[in-house]
Amino acid sequence: MDYLKINGIKSLSGEIQISGAKNASLPLIAMTILAKNKVSIKNLPHVVDINTLLKLLSNLGASCEFNDHNITVDTSSLNQTKATYDIVKTMRASILVLGPILTRFGHCEVSLPGGCAIGQRPIDLHLKALEHMGAKINIEAGYVQATAPDGLKGCNIIFDKITVTGTANIVMAAALAKGITTITNAAREPEVVQLCEILNKSGVSIEGIGTAVLTIHGTSGKLLDIDEFTIIPDRIEAGTYLCAGAITNSELTLKNVNAKHLGAVLAKLEEMGNSFTITPDTITLHPTAELKPVRIITQEYPAFPTDMQAQFLALATQANGTSVVEERLFENRFMHVSELQRMGANITLNGHVATVNGKTKLSGTDVMATDLRASSALVLAALVAEGETNIHRIYHLDRGYDNLEKKLELVGAKIQRLKE
Ligand code: UD1
Repeated sequence: MDYLKINGIKSLSGEIQISGAKNASLPLIAMTILAKNKVSIKNLPHVVDINTLLKLLSNLGASCEFNDHNITVDTSSLNQTKATYDIVKTMRASILVLGPILTRFGHCEVSLPGGCAIGQRPIDLHLKALEHMGAKINIEAGYVQATAPDGLKGCNIIFDKITVTGTANIVMAAALAKGITTITNAAREPEVVQLCEILNKSGVSIEGIGTAVLTIHGTSGKLLDIDEFTIIPDRIEAGTYLCAGAITNSELTLKNVNAKHLGAVLAKLEEMGNSFTITPDTITLHPTAELKPVRIITQEYPAFPTDMQAQFLALATQANGTSVVEERLFENRFMHVSELQRMGANITLNGHVATVNGKTKLSGTDVMATDLRASSALVLAALVAEGETNIHRIYHLDRGYDNLEKKLELVGAKIQRLKE
């Protein structure tokens, strides 16, 4: 198993190239199940979650050709409709194949994803919506068995809660359904917007893209002709490196980034005293030596993303005063707190609210990554900790960060990947 060794208190400088967004790539790869042609995708990040989904598609019979950050996926040979536990257990987002396979083949089996480190993360909203569209759903022996022999039918769906992969799944299911599907309380994340925009260009008319009400005109089973497309920049990776600049008081420029997707994150960094120079595809962070405390509530886009909560908690340890961070999306997403405390952070947890009293001196030690974004919070803390920090179980980090240690090394961090 790999771990990261980081020597802290180092200031950074230079440019970081932002990769394509993992959370945009996953639904867009699943979307290729709806295509009649080979689909070329550019700017895919090199992260384990993408490989996991491609492996799942290959197991189902599709062929995938990788060429650096680009890929061609051909699902015309797809001849299996069962996503088995061995893959789904490693990545919950495997559930994204349910909508497209069911709508194309009339049947699909997907292993129930089970619990995950950051909370229960049920899929009831996905299933309820598919039932509304005429699917028969049976849960047996740990599998969701879905059938719709006569195809799915358009209907009105109102999500009780905003769900990102739920919205993506139902949009894809609706793409080949008969008639019109309306989704109310849809997710508005840029990753969902890109999925809708590409479908909209590929023969599925979608109204309301980027709003909470999506209207999808299904093709009644007609497969789509999907042109080559480029994955949008990863806003969470970008936000993480902005925090790296802010926590080390270093000027950093991010390239291939879209500041429009980072509104809430930039606003909070500004509240903490940082400023920015922004162009259409770069952001330069001008840091402050005196970080101010911040109040954060995680909510659905365009509000502050839960996927940036852990990184801001690490950043808040270096702000002068009391910061309050409230997690509203996932009930168990504070596992990085105990590791940050071991490094010297003064954080009190009360249910889903963390109170951080800063500024505290952090010291390097051995810490354990517990989930994807928690891992990056530990990297941020290690960058300013005195001495050496060893971050174990970084397979979590590898699920979602493309070459994190190389990117940080290029801007001056002392960071090494080693074997346990
Ligand atoms: C996606 C992102 C993840 C991010 C999360 C919230 C991907 C691959 N992952 O995850 O990085 O942290 O959005 O922005 O894009 N819920 C239900 N029932 C359901 C579905 C969801 O109760 O059927 C609840 C969840 O438990 C959670 C909330 O709804 O409390 C939001 O979850 P959701 O948006 O579905 O998260 P994911 O799509 O899994």
